[in-house]
Amino acid sequence: MNETQFDFGMVGLGVMGRNLLLNMADNDFAVIGLDLDPQKAAALETEAAAGKPVKGTTSAEEFVASLRKPRALMLLVPAGNPVDAVIASLLPLLEPGDIVVDGGNSYFPDTDRRVKTLADAGIHFFGMGISGGEKGARFGPSMMPGGNREAYERLRPIFEACAAKVNGEPCVSYLGNGSAGNYVKMVHNGIEYGIMQLLAEAYDLLKRGAGFSDDELEATFQGWNQTELQSFLVEITGEILAKKDDVTGQRLVSVISDRARSKGTGKWTSQNAMDLQVPIPTIDMAVLMRDMSKYKEERVEAAKLLPNNSLQAASVDKQQLAEQLRNAFYFAMITAYAQGMAQLRMASQAYNYGLELQEVAKIWRGGCIIRAVCLEDFRQAYEKNADLPNLLLDPKIGGDLLNRLGDMRTVLKTAIDKGIPMPGFMASLSYFDGYRSETLPTNLIQAQRDYFGAHTYERIDQEGIFHTQW
Ligand code: 6PG
Repeated sequence: MNETQFDFGMVGLGVMGRNLLLNMADNDFAVIGLDLDPQKAAALETEAAAGKPVKGTTSAEEFVASLRKPRALMLLVPAGNPVDAVIASLLPLLEPGDIVVDGGNSYFPDTDRRVKTLADAGIHFFGMGISGGEKGARFGPSMMPGGNREAYERLRPIFEACAAKVNGEPCVSYLGNGSAGNYVKMVHNGIEYGIMQLLAEAYDLLKRGAGFSDDELEATFQGWNQTELQSFLVEITGEILAKKDDVTGQRLVSVISDRARSKGTGKWTSQNAMDLQVPIPTIDMAVLMRDMSKYKEERVEAAKLLPNNSLQAASVDKQQLAEQLRNAFYFAMITAYAQGMAQLRMASQAYNYGLELQEVAKIWRGGCIIRAVCLEDFRQAYEKNADLPNLLLDPKIGGDLLNRLGDMRTVLKTAIDKGIPMPGFMASLSYFDGYRSETLPTNLIQAQRDYFGAHTYERIDQEGIFHTQW
């Protein structure tokens, strides 16, 4: 092959970078990968299918010189300083018109800064969230690109070819300006945190609260995936619950430490939602329960001092509880998506992204961690009304929740009686009850603010700003 004919380049040949590049090669794009580690550069060529135009190199000069102009290349290196370091090292070799795509989970303000810096050199910078993990990268991820719309047209054929497909439609779409792609991926991860927390709470209620055996747990979650709950996270939960530990013979999940880790995207989602004044309580709860899980020693101590004597509080009909919980989980999961989508809508206005939520729902239907059959309902809801303020206001989705409201309350009553913490479910129900409440008791808060701080209030019967000598 001519040395300057590679269609696409990848910097960082870790698992994600290598797999995505091999995916592109399978789709007959000529690709070159750069990694300072010679073993990784070599592994790329070894893993490529015979006859595919794939090259690995450790030389930045060779890498850049081998790319067809104007060049298109992607960085898949850890978020933060490594992205800036790679950009700084490549910049002297790049030329105006080249496109640099950051495929990592970068913090969106960093992307806006990099867009500006590179624009000064005439280079298009894209922040693109990629979801689907290792397998997704290799066989079809969901990709969330943001940046310059015209420049995207040059990336489109490559990305569309290697993205996951749902009904023949690729799970990639131009999302908007600047950091739109990283922002959408950040919220994707916030929703991911929310749903994972809800599944963990459901598991806890069934296991500790209702005494489900390992086999019953496995069967329950696997059964759920055959229903309207069908989704990647429910599916893998069923598989995880079935997996036995080679060492002890027990279910592997029961010998895994309960201290949860995180890389930060869920926290960023919550932090930015607060900045934008968008309530996303289910996601917030997911972030804070991972935090609470870290206080293991304190929890062990507290469990002795403050024992939960309520677990046997009331006997439950297992089958009935599993059925009610299925509906309650659906209810809570939908509210987690609704919160995330509402945040995207407000962020699009605040940051001028120009997001189309229908496109977001469309590209989340496949490939990504939060893919689920309900995403098609969301796509249709936004197709009917592009400016829908909240998914709960869609008649079909709202109706689906109303039908499950009774089960949601019953499940939470059981959890409360038994002392099983279900903050994600609770937050989802309160979100729903708060959002559909014509009046909230915040009139009292306004009165209190005025009482102690003369912060003034507005009246419902007269225009103007008022203050009272309480
Ligand atoms: C994805 C995942 C991916 C990663 C998470 C894990 O969409 O493929 O979200 O990006 O696995 O960032 O996040 P935590 O380490 O914060 O749980």
